[in-house]
Amino acid sequence: MRKGEKLIIGLMVLSVVGLVVVKLKQSAKETTEDPGIPFFSTASEDVTKQAGKTIRAFNCRDCHSLWATKTFTQAVPAPALDGMGSFRSEEWLYNYFSAENPQEILPSRLKPQYRMPSYASLTEQERRDLAAYIGSLKVEDWYREQAAKARYEKLTGKEYDKDARI
Ligand code: HEC
Repeated sequence: MRKGEKLIIGLMVLSVVGLVVVKLKQSAKETTEDPGIPFFSTASEDVTKQAGKTIRAFNCRDCHSLWATKTFTQAVPAPALDGMGSFRSEEWLYNYFSAENPQEILPSRLKPQYRMPSYASLTEQERRDLAAYIGSLKVEDWYREQAAKARYEKLTGKEYDKDARI
């Protein structure tokens, strides 16, 4: 073999070895477990359907994100509804949606037009379904702290304080 041929064969071997190493590293990365989406709902199909109608009719998603998506008009710093049932009970939610003035229950830091509106004019069944559905939106334990932090910052406009309760 000539010198040039040896060099070429050597280079080819090197690049094959290099490719194999890169591929092995990639597949090792791919097999580390993906923790998945941290939000889930435990609501029945019926409650999901009924509450879904109200959520669409009253454009909750103009201000709140739900299932980690926002409508493009959204500009209000309201907390996400994802995971809400891990922070609020169904009963609390029912009372909140039924209040003539929700800010008496949960004060607002925002201008009046961005605040949580009253849904006292909905029928009792609609408010019950809405409370059952929002109360069923849970966050997995491994993401709870991050969700609590995001919610705290949206509600207060301040940096997260672990010990403060809202
Ligand atoms: C105009 C914007 C707006 C709309 C529309 C709106 N919200 Fe809100 N919501 C807020 C804001 C802002 C807050 C935080 C409290 C405040 O500032 O009044 C809030 C608070 C809440 C909370 C309590 C949050 C917490 O962390 O304790 C829940 C639950 C909620 N909204 C659900 C809903 C549902 C369900 C709908 C639709 C039926 C809805 N919101 C529609 C702006 C809105």
